[in-house]
Order: sequence, then structure tokens, then C-alpha cells
Amino acid sequence: MRRPPCPLRTSRWTDGGGVAEPDPVPEQTPHLPAPPWFMRPAARAWRCAPAPAEARAFHTALPDYSPTPLTRLPDLAAELGVGRIFAKDESCRLGLPAFKVLGASWAIHRALAERAASGAAPGPVTLVTATDGNHGRAVARMAHRLGQHAHVFVPRGVHPQAVAAIAAEQAKVTEVPGPYDEAVRRAAEEAVGPHALLIQDTAWPGYERIPGWIVEGYSTLCAETDEQLSAAGVAAGPGLVVVPVGVGSLAQAVVTHYRSRPAGRAPALLSVEPESAACVLASLTRGAPVTVGTGDTTMAGLNCGTPSSIAWPRLHHGLDAAVAVSDADTARAAIRLAALGFPAGPCGAATLAGLRAMLTGPGAAARRSALGLDATSVIVLLSTEGPTANPHAPTVPGAL
Ligand SMILES: Cc1ncc(COP(=O)(O)O)c(C=O)c1O
Repeated sequence: MRRPPCPLRTSRWTDGGGVAEPDPVPEQTPHLPAPPWFMRPAARAWRCAPAPAEARAFHTALPDYSPTPLTRLPDLAAELGVGRIFAKDESCRLGLPAFKVLGASWAIHRALAERAASGAAPGPVTLVTATDGNHGRAVARMAHRLGQHAHVFVPRGVHPQAVAAIAAEQAKVTEVPGPYDEAVRRAAEEAVGPHALLIQDTAWPGYERIPGWIVEGYSTLCAETDEQLSAAGVAAGPGLVVVPVGVGSLAQAVVTHYRSRPAGRAPALLSVEPESAACVLASLTRGAPVTVGTGDTTMAGLNCGTPSSIAWPRLHHGLDAAVAVSDADTARAAIRLAALGFPAGPCGAATLAGLRAMLTGPGAAARRSALGLDATSVIVLLSTEGPTANPHAPTVPGAL
């Protein structure tokens, strides 16, 4: 199988980390071109301040809270030649099929509390947002639960069932015949006046507080993972964490978590994006945030053209590596995970596709070594949505 051409020109340069150029000796699958990737292992030495701890306490107090599973996948570890692979299963988070409600719930709680404290007129507000699916549904769910209204802008390319699921949360839905960035613009224009609040999961200069709370909310997922790894006997923590990226807010939370630990081994952190919307890979490669044109992808939640302004500095300094994958790679990964009994939608399975792209094929030995991986390494894949969140049937001719 040949990969579709990637619209981005990515060069395989390093940023002082001394990573070797890709190994010229073909391995395992010599007919495949190397994936577009970026590597900067110096990121492991970078440190930042931790996230505040309040979001975790807020989530644990919610009536339907329980930690999502961290599932060990021994067959995959054997297949990829590493010690242990765990996947964080976000297919049921606070009653929704994706992790996003962690951020939406905490940010809405903070924003409404702040509004009440400011003496704003009582009465319901309309929580406005743009979404590739999961965030909008989470905002709509929280709005309904809290007696507020929701207005959700949906760009083209979101699965009709995902759009219907947002409407079923009693939200007003406006479909935008353009890409995600356009839907974000429309939502920001709509959220004016004393009875509207923009609850957006991406930031830009002048709009950073609420997206910051959303990122804090995601830290609960990282804290749970630490505890679950400890309980599984992985006291030293993982050697690699793989995170799917849209605008980079989840990756910001992951970088903040692992790069703020005072001591101990810092894991490598790998971001995974669709080839057709790899804005973080393009930005890392350029060394500055860039907007890319986006196309169609089954990975709807990752179909974003611009990194969040507050995520970018953390990703720039704290991510070791980034890779872009195709829809076919992700479909193959979802099918493999399903065969192992693990429920992953396209964005969730993207992390396995990205891991596979980095650990196999031409240049894999150099990439493994740059990521600091060996046959004993522990890897955590963040599988951020279940199949019902974004129900594209993962069909790949000849897939495993
Ligand atoms: C299932 C899923 N995974 C990952 C992401 C990426 O998160 P972020 O946009 O914070 O990078 C999203 C975003 O909507 C998503 O819905």
C-alpha cells in the first residue's frame, strides 16, 4: 500500500538533539516510504510548572466519575518489540464516548463561577462553541445538566451521527460549510453580549483563560494514568506517551504533566496528527506556529489547521517527536485494537498508527533510539475516543 501524498513538506531535521538521519538500511517493509516525522529528544530535559490540582478534585466529586481503564496490550508489545504497551481507554468518560468532557466540565464550572462572582445578571447563559464533534457534545451535555443553553458550530466533515448526538443533548447546532478554523471564527462572533459565554478548546491571543481551564481539566487523565501504572508495577513511569493532536490542548496537558515532574525519568512524548491536518508537525518543523490547509479525514477530532496559542510554547519545547498518519493507517490500527477487544474510534486508534509508523519501516532503528526505546520500554497510548463517538467504519482492504 502506498500512502497518499502528504500536503506538507516536512524535513527531517533535528534541533540540537543529535539524532541520526534516518537509517538508510531498509527494515521490515522496504516498499513503504518513511512517514513524515519530526524528532527533538532535547525536549526530555525541558521542565515547566505543573497544572493546578483542583480539576482532579472537581472531577472525582462528580456523581458519574470513575477513572477510565488503562488496558495492557501484550500482543501489541510483542509485535512491536517493546516491553509493555498500555492504552488509556476514553470510550466512556463521564457517560460520553470521548475524553473531552474532562476539559469542558472544569472550564464551564470555572467560567460560571467567575461570572456569578462578578455580579452578572442571574439567569441562564448560552454556552457557545465550535467543535469537530466531541468537545461540542461535552459542552452541550454540561450546559443541559447545569440548566444553561448551548449553541454549537460544526464544520464540514463531522460524521452525521456525531452532529445528531450534539443536537440530542438539547443544543442548537449550526453547520458551517467550511473547515474547523472557520467554525471557531463563527462561534467567537456569536458569543457576544451578557448572556453568552464562549467555551472554546483552542486559544488565540486575547482568548486564553477558558482554553487554559480546559487544558487543566485534561490533567485528570494524566493523574489517573500515573496511579494505574503504579498499580501495574511500573513505578518508574512510562518510557513513551503517544498523544493524538488536533489543536494541541490535550498534548499541552500531557507535556505539562510529564515535564513538570521534579525528579525521575522523563518519558519521550510523541504527537500524532492526520496527514491532511498536521499543523503541529508543520509548526515544529518550521520552529514557529503555522496554519495549514485541512482536508477530509476520518480523524474528525484531529482535523484542525492551527495550534492553540497557549499550547504551542509547551509543544515546541516539550514534545520529543511528531508524526502524521493516513486514514488507512488509523483504520488498520482501529481494526487491530478491535481484534484485541479494545474499543477505539479513529482519533483513539491514531496513536497506535503513529507508534507503528515510528517503530517500523525504513529508519525505525534510528527513531527507536532517538525515542530512547528498547525491548523493555513501557509505552502508553492515549485512546481518546470510542467507536461510537465518531462512527466511521474502519475498512481497509487487506487489513489485519
Ligand atoms: C477524540 C479526540 N482525540 C483527540 C483530540 C485532540 O485534542 P486537541 O484538539 O486538544 O489536540 C480531539 C479533539 O477534538 C478529539 O475529539
